[in-house]
Amino acid sequence: MKGVFQTLWDGYTRLTPSAKVIHDLFESNGDTIVNDHIAIRTFNDSRVDIAKMAEPFISLGYVEAGTYEFPAKKLFAKHFHIPGNSNAPKVFISELKLELMSDSLRRSVSLILDSVDPADLEDPNLVLTGRPWSKPSHQLYEKLREESEYAAWMYLYGFCANHFTVNVNELKGFESLEAVNDALEAEGFTLNASGGKIKGSKEQGLEQSSILADLQDFDFVEGVYKVPTCYYEFAMRHELNGELFDGFIAGSADKIFESTDLKLQTKLS
Ligand code: NI
Repeated sequence: MKGVFQTLWDGYTRLTPSAKVIHDLFESNGDTIVNDHIAIRTFNDSRVDIAKMAEPFISLGYVEAGTYEFPAKKLFAKHFHIPGNSNAPKVFISELKLELMSDSLRRSVSLILDSVDPADLEDPNLVLTGRPWSKPSHQLYEKLREESEYAAWMYLYGFCANHFTVNVNELKGFESLEAVNDALEAEGFTLNASGGKIKGSKEQGLEQSSILADLQDFDFVEGVYKVPTCYYEFAMRHELNGELFDGFIAGSADKIFESTDLKLQTKLS
């Protein structure tokens, strides 16, 4: 059987062809890509919450290693790792705090989840199943997007990897995140510049950057519209007190969440 990470990667690169292009570009330069982390999004409804998404990773030996709050985006997140195995990609799972959203958004999310056969939601590998509800409506997508870009994204793609992140420390061809960013821009990719192209700093132990999410045709009930899919991220870790920092910085992740925001895309064009 295909592993959890391979299944997520295959689904992710179908949505995000740029990730595959960049991955292959680095490998053609003689580098082997190591993933720093992958990220998964969900709602805090107990049927599909962080604990539910984490199940296949817990089976692989992952344990909780940190919690994060994103007040402006009304998100809570946890990251998981395998103790003593720094080569295993960390798993970052966030959930939208539905109790902080409008009645209308909360009702929409309930209806979406209620439309799924409860047995399908009980699948321990739910995180690998993509969108288990029927074809989205563009009207509802736009309505969700007015309040939460995150909720709108979830409505389109469901349970899958929102992004993979290249471990830049392990790239032999690049000495810094700036060098990676320059190479990506030279190849014509657009970086998320919200809060600066590099989020975080050496002093904080973690520098991150990402390309903007790919825009792809999406088949809605009302017809085909172009929407953001997923993005590829790059992380360089630094030593803090003699040890490589292995957590996340909420303030940086906050800006990186915006890589799937259509508003950021339209500002550029
Ligand atoms: Ni990330």
